[in-house]
Amino acid sequence: MRNPYAPGAGQRPPELAGRDRELRQFEVTLERVAGGRPERSMVLSGLRGVGKTVLLNALRGQAVKRAWGTGKIEARPEQSLRLPVAQAVNAAVREVAHRHRDPDRVDAVAGVLKSFALGTRLEDRKGIRWQPAVSIGTDVAATKGRADSGDLELDLAELFTDVADLARDLGVGVAIFIDEMQDVSTEELGALCGACHELSQQGAPLVVVGAGLPHLPVALAASRSYAERLFRYVAVDRLPRAMADRALLVPAGGEDVDYEAAALDELYRLTDGYPYFVQAYGKVTWDAAIASPIRVADVREAAPEAERELAVGFFGARFDRATPAERDYMRTMAGLGVDNGDSVVTTADIARALVRRPQSLSPARDGLIKKGLVYSSERGTVAFTVPHFGRFLRTQRP
Ligand SMILES: Nc1ncnc2c1ncn2[C@@H]1O[C@H](COP(=O)(O)OP(=O)(O)O)[C@@H](O)[C@H]1O
Ligand SMILES: [Mg+2]
Repeated sequence: MRNPYAPGAGQRPPELAGRDRELRQFEVTLERVAGGRPERSMVLSGLRGVGKTVLLNALRGQAVKRAWGTGKIEARPEQSLRLPVAQAVNAAVREVAHRHRDPDRVDAVAGVLKSFALGTRLEDRKGIRWQPAVSIGTDVAATKGRADSGDLELDLAELFTDVADLARDLGVGVAIFIDEMQDVSTEELGALCGACHELSQQGAPLVVVGAGLPHLPVALAASRSYAERLFRYVAVDRLPRAMADRALLVPAGGEDVDYEAAALDELYRLTDGYPYFVQAYGKVTWDAAIASPIRVADVREAAPEAERELAVGFFGARFDRATPAERDYMRTMAGLGVDNGDSVVTTADIARALVRRPQSLSPARDGLIKKGLVYSSERGTVAFTVPHFGRFLRTQRP
């Protein structure tokens, strides 16, 4: 019952270890943006399970603490940003509206928000355009002629400008958080960059903070040449030894439980410092131990259970989404990768190993990228998005 650990996607860890620098940096960003000073926003990138979502949520918490208006979305492949952004902005407006002294100004912004949302045009497979029913929870009439041109970049710039002005009246700002940002299309990423660029030139207090897989910075750079000047790229990675220990020790200390040094050695060997694994192994080890301090024997006893749980929940759930051809492709990748299979492999080597022409493997590669199992930061190379995935596949019988 007292087990403090929290394995699971987006699960808030009992101790957010090793992220102090990012949190401090974001405090400065919020302060500068609220003051209308030039400042780059933040984009987090890294493999699955390193703690991007959790860090993004913590950054949002900092903005909320400063009474900023905030909203968050999770991007999906082949879904336009417009409606999710409208909903996130709506949440941010609601957070500042009740403190604003001029209800007419609030209504004006709500009207623009509505017209922005109504600008959503979806195209079905036959190319027929239709407008979705929009519900963003405001009963204000849409304002004609603002943020409704249909051009996402222009509309975002107008919407963001009006919302930022509203927040500025209160001496605060607006922060929009976008998780799984690599799933936003290049075109829409470009529109988003364009709007952010415009806002930063005005010194308007609005930031877009993103998180996504390791190739997100590359995707942003491909969408707009000046993306690098808009965002500070933060690589979210494995925890160094001292921080991995901290992630285990601090929550245990809260329950008057300690670890023997050898147990911590063994846990780091198993988890490699990957936050998801730290939580997963920490949890089963706690359950296996009968007394404090937790010992290396407890870790060894618990490890197979942790592996089983990861095989089902972390690795297997993803592997199951792949087609047979995609699975062959990944097994070949796993065979070529060194260490735990987290290394980058060239598509030429994969083709050679499968005795196929590289072009004939493009569908499998593209499918895996779309499913978020594989990423490519550099032309002609691929790598797994999930740490230790290569090792996991090598232990599976085909
Ligand atoms: N800094 C950290 N210290 C300890 N545990 C963490 C940390 N960051 C994340 N975790 C844990 O790791 C797991 C994965 O976090 P998540 O944010 O979902 O990763 P990602 O979004 O990168 O896939 C969660 O169980 C979370 O509690
Ligand atoms: Mg995540």
